[in-house]
Amino acid sequence: MDRKLSVLFVDDEPRILQGLRRMLHTMRQQWDMAFVSGGRQALEVFSQKAVDVVVTDMRMPGMNGVELLSAVQERYPKTVRIVLSGHSDKELILKAVSPTHQYLSKPCDAEQLIATITRSCNLNALLTKDCVQRIVARMDALPSLPSLYAQIMDEVQSADVSMQKIGHIVARDPAMSAKILQLVNSSFFGLPRRIADPQHAVNLLGLETIKALVLTAEIFSAFDSRNLSDAFIEGLWQHSLRTGDLAARIAKNESLDKMAQDHSQMAGLLHDVGKLVLAARLPDDCAALAKRLAARPDQGRIAVEQEIFGATHAEVGAYLLGLWGLPDPIVEAVLHHHSPTGRDFDALAAVCVADMLINGSLSADDPAQVPADADADYLSGLRWPEKAQAWQELYAQTAEEKI
Ligand SMILES: [Fe+2]
Ligand SMILES: [Fe+2]
Repeated sequence: MDRKLSVLFVDDEPRILQGLRRMLHTMRQQWDMAFVSGGRQALEVFSQKAVDVVVTDMRMPGMNGVELLSAVQERYPKTVRIVLSGHSDKELILKAVSPTHQYLSKPCDAEQLIATITRSCNLNALLTKDCVQRIVARMDALPSLPSLYAQIMDEVQSADVSMQKIGHIVARDPAMSAKILQLVNSSFFGLPRRIADPQHAVNLLGLETIKALVLTAEIFSAFDSRNLSDAFIEGLWQHSLRTGDLAARIAKNESLDKMAQDHSQMAGLLHDVGKLVLAARLPDDCAALAKRLAARPDQGRIAVEQEIFGATHAEVGAYLLGLWGLPDPIVEAVLHHHSPTGRDFDALAAVCVADMLINGSLSADDPAQVPADADADYLSGLRWPEKAQAWQELYAQTAEEKI
């Protein structure tokens, strides 16, 4: 963006505001920062200028953080809403789940705070693309971070995080427990015996997988609205699970480190989440899209999406995940999964290859056949077709282990 990113900090404790001011001193060339001591003053700033990001405390006299963020959500839905709060305010924070995009716990170091706000800034760059802006403007408000995922992330950020506590959070939600148990017991995860306890499931699957599954399941249920057919939801859910699984296997096969394997899995699970958003929020346009694709199958989906929505499901999905503070490699993999670049094998590469193998547009049976909308140079940089056989075998394993 041409102008500086405008960031507003709200806290009733002058000491905290001073600390923030000092801590973020180096950012003043890039950011236009304002510091105010309460909700009412914050809304006054909003009435005077555009605010890109608001970072607020929770417990404040007069208007508290929940009230402030609810007002911002309603009146300025494009502003990114971040809570920076002490752990003792947990109850209030949980109430704020709906109007909040990201949470940070006090004390928070400069690096983390800057990274969180910078990510929002990158997101704004995506937002300034007219097309994504137009789609977002057609949504009522930016969808909030799903609550169970938010609770887990809050726990992850606390000093004494344990898998037991994460297990308790999952177990408290019967619908989510059922979903996790169904998944953990499917042949998908290849466990030797039946698991009946959500706590046990959490221990077995590990934190990253649980985080990815909880977020994916929550997004799916959030968009599970009347205008979406069961077949569409089910089809996309299965496709997402398989892409996540295959992307993780390919990442492991390519000797990526554990974190990159986790990112590959999560990005695979979430790569098409934009399709869900578009289908739920813009059903008429999606019907037109389906019609066009049926009439002219030679036209790629991405090109038709560009024409109809002015943006792609990849951009919309990445926008949402970025807004929720998912790690950059995941957001980037989702953003570029139909337009990959680069030479390194990373989460993006794992997701692209997995998606193409699952869609049948890449196959070891005919490795010379590269889909028209794929970048042949990119694929050869990933050593396709040399790798075709190995990846096809991994693909065959996931196909066998269908849920
Ligand atoms: Fe896609
Ligand atoms: Fe896909």
